[in-house]
Amino acid sequence: MLRLSQSPTDPAFVQNPYPFYDRARAGGDLFFWEDYGQVCAVSHQAVSALLRDRRMGREIPPECQPVIPERLKPFYDIEAHSMLELEPPTHTRLRSLVLRAFTSRRIAGLGPEITQLAHELIDKFPTSGPFDLLDAFARPIPILVICRLLGVPADRADDLLSWSNAMVSMYQARRTREIEDQAVTATEAFRAYILEVIAQKRRAPADDLLSQLIAAEEDRTKLSTDELITTSILLLNAGHEATVHTMGNGIKTMLETGEREIHEASVEEILRYDPPLHMFTRWVYEEVTLFGHTFKRGDQVALLLAGANRDPSPYPRPDLFSPNRVGPANVSFGGGIHFCVGAPLARLELLLAMGALFERCPSLRLAEPPEYANVYHFHGLKRLMVRID
Ligand code: HEM
Repeated sequence: MLRLSQSPTDPAFVQNPYPFYDRARAGGDLFFWEDYGQVCAVSHQAVSALLRDRRMGREIPPECQPVIPERLKPFYDIEAHSMLELEPPTHTRLRSLVLRAFTSRRIAGLGPEITQLAHELIDKFPTSGPFDLLDAFARPIPILVICRLLGVPADRADDLLSWSNAMVSMYQARRTREIEDQAVTATEAFRAYILEVIAQKRRAPADDLLSQLIAAEEDRTKLSTDELITTSILLLNAGHEATVHTMGNGIKTMLETGEREIHEASVEEILRYDPPLHMFTRWVYEEVTLFGHTFKRGDQVALLLAGANRDPSPYPRPDLFSPNRVGPANVSFGGGIHFCVGAPLARLELLLAMGALFERCPSLRLAEPPEYANVYHFHGLKRLMVRID
């Protein structure tokens, strides 16, 4: 197996990781990434197969559980009930409760509000001088939409953003004591806030996702209070950051390539071409030989979603942004039992918000070369400075 070294904190790599994925894929479906000490899947075939392979999963095998220091317990206590970190049967129970509340009718019903919100934000764009389109457009839409879906008041949107940023930082390659302390403080504040909202919803239930989850929690066999808290935090966190950066990366690509038309196929191409989440891992549960490598129980394998999306065998000329491309589904939302719960909502937000943006602002252009934030765990822009003539 090909062995490669590449620091995930190298700024040049973070700005453009795709040539590294190409080098890795040239050696086969799997390669060994020295810096992570892990086998990684990088071809579309291998990533798609491993995402669906039930002999591996997200939940840590009991004998591999790390010892959690007391000071980090508030963070990991929340994570312990996250469906993303669990396997059946608990995963199935939690996920089906969310899916039952996350109906296509409820998602489609958000369409007019997404369009209206996009237009209201566009109305406020400055007419002269450069401005940051992440702050003015891409960031507010997903947070307001997820608050609306859950039934959480949007007046604390800024707090929600900063809590979730602090929590997500725990997954970065360069984790420091300061990052850990901030994540714990954010988790405690987030938990206290969600408990307040839950108490208020218990008194006055409404037609929203949180009220529906609370109804399930009142029958303790369906959902515990800890699971209710974690699920609310998971949906609020997962529900905005990836959408913000897909939108930011997508608008950047559209402006760089001169494309203007947003339709369902161009949204898929945006997701394929430059997704925000590049790497997810799986724990191996039993010995299995795949793509010429024997995995042992307790191994971890990384799935490079963004590497799979640039594989030339399913996607000819993969580095070309081609808005009408036909081909197999991209893996930006994962696959198998953990396939993103929010994919239909994220697709709708991207379609409607970016559609309104390019229709209303035909002269939108870049005011400076966009730069990605210097972290590998979230491939998103620092800012997106644009102007409108
Ligand atoms: C473009 C935006 C988004 C991207 C690229 C994205 C990506 C992903 C990926 C790759 C996974 C699977 C991870 C794995 O298999 O290990 C996932 C899971 C998940 N996503 Fe998303 N997501 C997005 C938007 C959303 C939204 C809007 C929501 C909520 C409303 C959401 C909620 C979730 C949840 C709850 C899971 C866990 C599902 C499970 O474990 O069964 N995501 N997402």
